[in-house]
Amino acid sequence: MTDMTADTALNASTALAKRSTVLTPNFYSTDYAAMDRMDFTPIRKDWDALMAEFRADANEEHFERDRDFRKEVDALSPELREEFFDFLVSSCTAEYSGCILYTEIMKRAKNPDIKEVFEFMSRDEARHANFINYSLRDLGLGIDLKLLRQVKKYKYFSPKFIMYTVYLSEKIGYARYITIFRQLERNPHLRFHPIFLWFQRWCNDEFRHGEAFALMMQAQPELLRGRNKLWIRFFLLAVYATMYVRDHMRPQMNAALGFNPDDYDFQVFRITNECCKQIFPLVLDVEHPKFKPLLDKLVALSAINSAAKARGGIGGALTRVGVVARAAVTIARLFVLPAVHVAPRENVRMAPAW
Ligand SMILES: [Fe+2]
Ligand SMILES: [Fe+2]
Repeated sequence: MTDMTADTALNASTALAKRSTVLTPNFYSTDYAAMDRMDFTPIRKDWDALMAEFRADANEEHFERDRDFRKEVDALSPELREEFFDFLVSSCTAEYSGCILYTEIMKRAKNPDIKEVFEFMSRDEARHANFINYSLRDLGLGIDLKLLRQVKKYKYFSPKFIMYTVYLSEKIGYARYITIFRQLERNPHLRFHPIFLWFQRWCNDEFRHGEAFALMMQAQPELLRGRNKLWIRFFLLAVYATMYVRDHMRPQMNAALGFNPDDYDFQVFRITNECCKQIFPLVLDVEHPKFKPLLDKLVALSAINSAAKARGGIGGALTRVGVVARAAVTIARLFVLPAVHVAPRENVRMAPAW
């Protein structure tokens, strides 16, 4: 590839990573001063034990590539290559989004506990993002992370919303990586790229990040009571529904990994629910008979929306308005399904046991 085509390719993947839709990973900013005011006294013992784990840095040497990486991308079919590329771009963007948020909080913090934990977590996320980006470069399509940092739009979330969403994305990240790893452990012939071999130790980082947010929420019990329970339910639904719709848009990759996307996503929901029970006062009832049909409806609406978008014109625009309204009703119906209530635990800490 000449320099010019390499540049064009780099820009194309950066443009894809920059794209902001409901389904793509976002970049966040928050009220850093408010975040800094957290009192760690109620969780001191558990917190110090967790910081010792971060300090030990079990994955310091883990994110080193071997020679197989370059070889295997050449063998992918064009369709699988495209979906795998999309998967890597959205994973890299999500990892880098965490890295930027954590670095920003770390830089502005004066509270030594906040400073320390966010420094550890940004260290991990930077490793993760760079590791994926090397695989994107093998495909000739690395992301310009510095440029992405400047051009991507940032969403402001209050520290409370950061706690709910980032905790959830860490735990769901763990659940996704470990589910893929276990599937390929059972079926090694389906491992079409070496990156999946890294997922087991990688997802332990995500699990540990989630533990930090669980303890921070335990130190602020008001976040888990009263009207905040509705927010927790809302974010659980937003994260689960987004993942379900997005995963149903990658048929080639699901087939290559030997997954039925329904089974994969429900396994991820179950693991995430078990994790969330450590701290959230409720989780979604993913076994409720109406839960899956309503999610499937969102997938169908998303497909109609994509077709209308491709068609364009007034007809397409009208269809899309109708789809948005029907999606809102579907989400509202999901929101009012009965949730599973969880009794508060004294010992919040969990181990990655899946
Ligand atoms: Fe990560
Ligand atoms: Fe993480």
